[in-house]
Amino acid sequence: MFDAKQFIEEQVERIRQEVGAEKAMVAASGGVDSSVTTVLGFKALKDKLTVVFLDNGLMREGEPEAVVKVFKDMGIKTKLYDVKKNFFQAMNNLTDPEEKRKAFRQAFYKSLARIARQLGVRILLQGTIAADISETVRGVKSQHNVLEQIGINPLQEFGYRIIEPIKELYKPEVRQVAKELKLPDSIVNRKPFPGPALSVRVIGEIKPEKVEMVRKATKIVEEESNNFPSFQIFAVLLNDRATGLTDKGERAYGNIIVIRAVDSRDAMTAEATKMPWDRLLKMEKRIISEIPGVSRVLYDLTSKPPATIEFE
Ligand code: XMP
Repeated sequence: MFDAKQFIEEQVERIRQEVGAEKAMVAASGGVDSSVTTVLGFKALKDKLTVVFLDNGLMREGEPEAVVKVFKDMGIKTKLYDVKKNFFQAMNNLTDPEEKRKAFRQAFYKSLARIARQLGVRILLQGTIAADISETVRGVKSQHNVLEQIGINPLQEFGYRIIEPIKELYKPEVRQVAKELKLPDSIVNRKPFPGPALSVRVIGEIKPEKVEMVRKATKIVEEESNNFPSFQIFAVLLNDRATGLTDKGERAYGNIIVIRAVDSRDAMTAEATKMPWDRLLKMEKRIISEIPGVSRVLYDLTSKPPATIEFE
């Protein structure tokens, strides 16, 4: 039986010992994994820890400011960095999902390297969990936060060491630790959101206007699912078009949005959520009327396996 209290004591002590007299930073996204890592780090290091939030232009609406506020309110030193240009440049012209993921990973660690130099820090705490490592090592997907396990030495490549206090846990244990740490319910129960953010939900080339479309659709499906108990619910913009009609009866060759909702315990397997039909229709109506250029909305029925949860 997993003992969250004991785990916290052990990891706080371990972080304290490994960091010693140095300073450290933690890359936070607002998800439960990085939030747990942040609070473990804060317990161990207090003012020697800086929380870094990278605004990569791929987060959900209002997310950067909201996440920074959560940590500032806890009295933790937190800084928001605008690195949108670096990420869009790094992924410019790329269409292959693995190339996009690797470009995202490179932009992520390089941005952190610049910030580490500014802060005079040589240690990064990171909320990588067991599922991230297993999927990357098995070659399913290159997660943005896995390096050493695939033979990349962060100290040589980027100039800092990485400590991963929760790398042996899966999501349910991480949530137990979050609860034990008294993190707000909004974080304890927060649905998973991928590290590469909306970049894995825009199929094909990443362009700011496409990200904006999927950002709006994401907001709509999150609002309309209104705490419906699915493991994840999100929107995806396909790299394809379909014929439709405008409300004036004219031909439109528009974009296609997919709604994906899944039930899962630990993200290793999943099934499509039996989302009530009226909710789906409400989502569809709002997506079509509120997002110009979208002419069709689909619901994904596929389990994992054979599909993965995300599209890329
Ligand atoms: P897949 O798509 O592999 O996703 O079935 C499994 C779970 O992981 C999330 N996901 C990621 N999380 N970095 C992350 O931190 C990533 O690169 C990444 N890719 C997928 C996904 O949302 C799902 O919960």
